[in-house]
Amino acid sequence: MPDARLAIVILAAGQGTRMKSATPKLLHQLAGLPIVGHVLATAGALDAAHTVTVVRYERDRLAAVVEAALPGSSIVDQDEVPGTGRAVEQAIAALPGDFDGDVLILNGDVPLLDAATLAGFITAHRAGASAASLMTMAPDDPTGYGRIVRAADGSVDRIVEHKDALDDELALGEVNAGIYLFGVGALRDHLATLRIDNAQGEKYLTDMVAALRAAGSDVIGVPISQSWLVAGINDRAQLSEAAARLNAMIIRGWQLAGVTVQDPTTTWIDLSVSLAPDVEILPGTQLKGATTVATGARVGPDTTLVDCEIGERAVVKRTDGTLAVIGADASVGPFAYLRPGTVLGVDGKIGTFVETKNSTIGDGSKVPHLSYIGDTTVGVGSNVGAGTITANYDGVNKHKTVVGSHVRSGSHNVFVAPVRIGDGAYTAAGTVVRKDVPPGSLALNVAPQRNIEGWVAANRAGTEAARAAAESGNS
Ligand code: UD1
Ligand code: CA
Repeated sequence: MPDARLAIVILAAGQGTRMKSATPKLLHQLAGLPIVGHVLATAGALDAAHTVTVVRYERDRLAAVVEAALPGSSIVDQDEVPGTGRAVEQAIAALPGDFDGDVLILNGDVPLLDAATLAGFITAHRAGASAASLMTMAPDDPTGYGRIVRAADGSVDRIVEHKDALDDELALGEVNAGIYLFGVGALRDHLATLRIDNAQGEKYLTDMVAALRAAGSDVIGVPISQSWLVAGINDRAQLSEAAARLNAMIIRGWQLAGVTVQDPTTTWIDLSVSLAPDVEILPGTQLKGATTVATGARVGPDTTLVDCEIGERAVVKRTDGTLAVIGADASVGPFAYLRPGTVLGVDGKIGTFVETKNSTIGDGSKVPHLSYIGDTTVGVGSNVGAGTITANYDGVNKHKTVVGSHVRSGSHNVFVAPVRIGDGAYTAAGTVVRKDVPPGSLALNVAPQRNIEGWVAANRAGTEAARAAAESGNS
């Protein structure tokens, strides 16, 4: 049941200039989700009666993320008046006129705050009698944050933005975390009265505090002792700090669930990844997107997998893979490049310096060395010789190669697609397979070898080669 007395406003209209990026700040990625995606997920978990996200900069890209995370929730476009106060003013105008509950305001750039902490904040606010509550913290470096000025009675007197603060205010260690609860009436009464005569020429939401105080209401500041929980992301240094913090938590979660992670500092796992107990992750591994790894599999070192499915007890070493499915007991790498559409069967092998794309390699089949296999299906129990290349592209179109079951192809073959190699066929070393090979046949098209005896002595006299040949008694 949604909380009928709760509305959530997510502030996501800012440009994020300190990121110095063509990508809007809130769409920079953190553990596989955009920054604002974490806030949207948390908001979703709180199950409020109304959720409003305010957008402006790159509004279509933001709106698409909001729609995907919270389908059917409200999206409000901020007008040209800048500032968090204006954003909230427009957001509450989108709430039903008869809504008279609490408004939880979340900065879109504070991604690590969890729903449980927020639920506690809401409960505490409702137990008290203040007009508003806000979270505060005392970070090691308060640069950029609004400073909390406390009144003699301990409540919050006002917030001074960093750019407006005097030296003695800058020295205050307690800052505004950007997370607030207001009764909607307080916002309706005061937001329109806030002015923009400040260093940034913006309508600051933070000025609500002084406005409420002037009207005789109390504002409670709730200190959050773990300041990383409410850290805002304004630049790429803060982004990498938050990413490291979140990654450490994700890895610890998997470790406690039975996954061996040898080196948490060089292992990066997206929130969306799923790992079974007794998976082993070696250093330098990144697991992204919808990647799943089944029990007993070993991944790494130095492996990046995006949207891959790794079967039980498979071993994947020094590999870069996207949208690949690896069967149980299969082996991949070292130095394999699995492109989208690669499917390797049970007990199969994609070996060293092998690139695969849009290809199915059947159970027990092996492509062990130095190959490119594209747009191909290989049956079961086949061995593709070292250095085999599928020529799948004629310069205009891509064509398919079909290799049957229990095929033994020779080293250094080219399979010129479209072409079929039948079940149980063999191909000789160096064959350029341009015609279909019937089942059980041997294909070969290499020119007969001719040896010209004595050529070195006649043409390269005095070289080490000539000397070696002479010493072998066969000059
Ligand atoms: C804000 C607070 C500051 C607090 C800090 C905590 C204000 C005036 N200041 O500062 O006191 O310490 O957060 O992280 O609120 N946004 C809009 N519309 C706008 C401007 C911003 O929706 O016109 C959104 C941004 O996209 C962002 C959030 O509001 O998600 C905060 O904006 P930002 O510019 O990062 O504010 P700070 O300077 O960090
Ligand atoms: Ca910020």
